[in-house]
Amino acid sequence: MKKLLLSACFLWGSCLAAQTAAPGIPPYQNAALPVEQRVDDLLDRMTLEEKVLQLSQQTLGLNDNENNVNEAVGSIPAGIGSLIYYEEDPAARNAMQRRAMENSRLGIPVLFGYDVIHGFRTISPIPLAQACTWNTALVEQGCAVSAAEARRSGVDWTFSPMIDVARDGRWGRISEGYGEDPYATAAFAAAAVRGYQGNDLTAPDRVAACLKHFVGYGASEAGRDYVYTEISRQTLWDTYLPPYEAGVRAGAQTVMSSFNDISGTPGSCNAYTLTEVLKERWGFDGFVVSDWDAVAQIVAQGGAADRKEAARRAFNAGVDMDMTDRCYEHHLARLVREGKVSMDRVNDAVRRVLRVKFRLGLFDRPYTDNTPQAERLLLPESRAVAERLAEEAIVLLKNEHGLLPLATDGSRPDIAVMGPLLGADGELLGNWSAHGRTSEVYPLRKALEEEFAGKAELHFVEGCPFDGQDRSAFMAARKAAKRADVVLLLMGERRKWSGENCVRAAVELPAIQEALIAEVKKAGKPVVLVLANGRPLGLERVEPFCDAIVEMWQPGLPGGRPVAGVLSGRVNPSGKLSVTFPRSTGQIPIYYNRRKSARPTLGKYQDIPSTPLYGFGHGLSYTTFAYGDLRLSADSIGPEGKLTAEITVTNTGKRDGAEVVQWFVSDPFCRITRPERELKHFEKQMLRAGESRTFSFEISPMRDLSFVDDDGHRFLENGEFFVIVNGKKARFVVSDGPSPFEPLSH
Ligand code: BGC
Repeated sequence: MKKLLLSACFLWGSCLAAQTAAPGIPPYQNAALPVEQRVDDLLDRMTLEEKVLQLSQQTLGLNDNENNVNEAVGSIPAGIGSLIYYEEDPAARNAMQRRAMENSRLGIPVLFGYDVIHGFRTISPIPLAQACTWNTALVEQGCAVSAAEARRSGVDWTFSPMIDVARDGRWGRISEGYGEDPYATAAFAAAAVRGYQGNDLTAPDRVAACLKHFVGYGASEAGRDYVYTEISRQTLWDTYLPPYEAGVRAGAQTVMSSFNDISGTPGSCNAYTLTEVLKERWGFDGFVVSDWDAVAQIVAQGGAADRKEAARRAFNAGVDMDMTDRCYEHHLARLVREGKVSMDRVNDAVRRVLRVKFRLGLFDRPYTDNTPQAERLLLPESRAVAERLAEEAIVLLKNEHGLLPLATDGSRPDIAVMGPLLGADGELLGNWSAHGRTSEVYPLRKALEEEFAGKAELHFVEGCPFDGQDRSAFMAARKAAKRADVVLLLMGERRKWSGENCVRAAVELPAIQEALIAEVKKAGKPVVLVLANGRPLGLERVEPFCDAIVEMWQPGLPGGRPVAGVLSGRVNPSGKLSVTFPRSTGQIPIYYNRRKSARPTLGKYQDIPSTPLYGFGHGLSYTTFAYGDLRLSADSIGPEGKLTAEITVTNTGKRDGAEVVQWFVSDPFCRITRPERELKHFEKQMLRAGESRTFSFEISPMRDLSFVDDDGHRFLENGEFFVIVNGKKARFVVSDGPSPFEPLSH
């Protein structure tokens, strides 16, 4: 009966729509009909071969990801599902789209995707730096800028955000994510999805987001890229999956399956993660695209004997679209005919792809307007967002005796400026910089000259190269240091030292840079070290020589301006580390939310302290903040109750500044051991000099105090908990729920 009614409604709906549409227009082309109805109609009309093409992705234009060499595709079939689009203007897209619309039997538009990671042309800081802003609203704005530039240039879909929790700085891709913490990464994942997608995917300034790389890619052994990852189900659930769940809840339309082998089952043929968790439990109704060639690579990983077998495994596990390796194109139809892949699964995958295309409005508006670049790229308001992100991302790691800001007393100090970043401004763009141009990065030297004009004498000397043995400029550097009042060292990494396939065995600065720091310190002058890099560095050997250390990361197009502002005091730094800085490589992996030791006072390194050099959340300001008492609205709470924690923070210094308050929870014991403390909430507020503000955390027990077991079932236990903020701790009790170690029912 219910079925009958439904089909009656469907028929009636179609009739209504048919009345409004031009005669002869099939329902899938009728913009007035609901998406699901249009999808069903189109699906019914498609042949198996047409369906397989919809599940295939190729490239259009010159591939700008040097890690990926693709098979030349002679001529792209008009019925292709998706293309990676490397151009900056809509023309090539529109020409290809016209072929799809006019030459394919059903006129299904192509979906154009691209890696818009931290900007399309207006490049913002790398994501790891963006997370140091702790400003989700600003990160959301940054993604909205990327979305607008990309969509107006012909891109419908970005392969971003990258939300792999990473705790090993050797892994170059740590730069692409939001750091070491699952909660913070989840918060930024949701912000990024909101920024890219907005509320209306058909808008000409929004793109579909892609959560990647699903899942556990950040656990790459010893930081090497593409390798095996050993991840227990427990760790999968409590560390690697939470950002993805948050991204799916925020409405992300696509997910990319990862390269890594997850404890014996590659991420790209993992039915547990892709189908059971993502699609069934989380109800994800968009589609999964494989990473580049990740289906074929299942063969290399030893998960399939040949590409056909790899296609079968990946597809049946839940990868809907095959990126570039053409395994689906070549084998899927045959696999269906042989009964190794079901037609239901094919329809499910195609439905998902079509759904996203309809949601993006591609059937109704397949072409991109040809607006001049000046009207869509590098707009002043877009640059302003990138600049703010870069300013707020800067972390003041050390500032002995208030050395910074410089030149504030009118004495016009002599500053010797040197280091490999001088004249290498392109390195500030960071990796994965889409259409960003190194020539458009605001030069460091120019920024410093403008910032200190009339306030200080700047002397620029060479110093040393990024790496290698060339010490020929050391002598001149030391002399300049001797003459100067302060030495400013501009150092760090080249942009291609982090990112995909950019692993470093050691996270220390190269020996030549370390040597120059020691050399100039011999002159006895205060030393300021400014760093641009794409990973947490091991600074233990150089830290004693530096009176101040400023982590500027790779700021993108704003280049030298934000850090110049911090050095002069125009900008009061407010960034805090989203990732732990080890003392040295030997401490890796090191992260704040580790589980407890059996012998907490023992088991330390004999040669170095076991603590990090700069912990997660570390970051100084030019003002000082005093934290008042930590207050709880009650000392006991039931599973359904609410509890508010509050703390008043006062800006006790002489200048305005922003403070990030991070709220942690600790559960001293539990049936499944938990991290020492877990971030559960954070908030950033601007406080004027002398101002006090109250920060609060509304604790909702199931959301904030529960934990997951190794199959993702959430549970909350009775007993003692602590809320921790800036070293202050308050105890409360959860009662009326299950006791620890009572069997759980789920
Ligand atoms: C990377 C992905 C990227 C894809 C497409 C792969 O090599 O792992 O992050 O989205 O290429 O360029």
